[in-house]
Amino acid sequence: NKIVLAYSGGLDTSVAIKWLKEKYNAEIIAYSANVGQIGVESWDLIEEKGYQTGAAKVYIDDVQEEFVKDYVFKALKTNALYEGKYPLATALSRPLISKKMIDIAKENGADAVAHGCTGKGNDQVRFDVSFRALNPKIDIIAPLRTWEFKTRNEEIDYAKANDIPIKATKDSPYSLDSNLWGIAIECGVLEDPWNEPPADAYYWTKDPADTPDKPLYLTIGFEKGEPVQIDGKDMEPVNLVKELNKIGSEYGVGRIDMVENRLVGIKSREIYEAPAAVILTEAHQHLEDMTLDRETSHYKRIISEKFSELLYYGLWFSPLRSAIDAFVEETQQQVSGEVRVKLFKGQCTVVGRKSPYSLYQYDLATYDTEDSFDHSSAEGFIKLWGLPTQVYGSVKGPNK
Ligand code: ARG
Ligand code: SIN
Repeated sequence: NKIVLAYSGGLDTSVAIKWLKEKYNAEIIAYSANVGQIGVESWDLIEEKGYQTGAAKVYIDDVQEEFVKDYVFKALKTNALYEGKYPLATALSRPLISKKMIDIAKENGADAVAHGCTGKGNDQVRFDVSFRALNPKIDIIAPLRTWEFKTRNEEIDYAKANDIPIKATKDSPYSLDSNLWGIAIECGVLEDPWNEPPADAYYWTKDPADTPDKPLYLTIGFEKGEPVQIDGKDMEPVNLVKELNKIGSEYGVGRIDMVENRLVGIKSREIYEAPAAVILTEAHQHLEDMTLDRETSHYKRIISEKFSELLYYGLWFSPLRSAIDAFVEETQQQVSGEVRVKLFKGQCTVVGRKSPYSLYQYDLATYDTEDSFDHSSAEGFIKLWGLPTQVYGSVKGPNK
């Protein structure tokens, strides 16, 4: 009887180790994925804590590279933003963590997996759906949906009574989830959507009011839709994203404040910090504006909306998601080149772009003497283009 538990080292999942072990009389295999989250001082300590709390085995797995290459960059190439704003950091990490846990369950002959998500969020859906997609026979346990503890204090009491090591430091007044693609911040005073997020609600980014008075210009190089360079310097995916999070934060870039629609039907007020995601998505979209033909570009916006929903709703391992990937991959073959962005007082603005595959043609676009556009063909084109409207108007009278 073995259970693989998604373990963060925090209060909920620490209590879960002990609780699952007793309730199911099981051996607990704790799994911690390093996706570049904040606030981890030492992975060794998390490992040690896992054993102290009673886990039979603790895995500490650095999956940052796989996360960025196989999940984050797919979202970037699709320009994925849920409801036009949220870059989906948390949503992207869940399928990867689920996949790893199912692998570990198989290796260890475990027949159940468990996670520490509540019963009113999106994350439980993402885990459960991913687990079942990868192994329909697996049992899924979500202690927070079923256990007897009603408050954090009750969990703390249980932890104390059971010698579960918990942090002496004061807890954050917010609920956090973070990885290389961004931080999600919820709860506390943020639950009143009218409240401006207080200064202490942001962990990475500087308040734009306290950022440099001079803008910073960066050139980002893309190769087939993936960012590969900053200011002409080749960079590996993980380092590139980390670097942009660092630089962006200094300029207050990447703060997002929204009320979003959760899959379970409730609206929730969320804030995010996602400097790299905001800079790269903006830059990537602008490079596509120059390198994709109009119809592909417009069609891709529809796809992007759908892809973002699929991710948000936990449907990463669905046939439609892979089909969209294939479409997007095909569109990215010419999305190479450079984009110049300007970071200033919380804003990231694209100010220049160039590409060997640019479809922008100066002689067609110019109003200057080199103009080669055939003006005479415009008249006939417009006549035919407007013909249906003209016929309609002449039969029904003009539409008001
Ligand atoms: N609302 C965001 C999402 O659904 C953030 C979720 C944060 N998760 C968490 N366990 N704190 O993706
Ligand atoms: C949770 O409720 O577990 C976190 C929030 C979410 O998943 O949306």
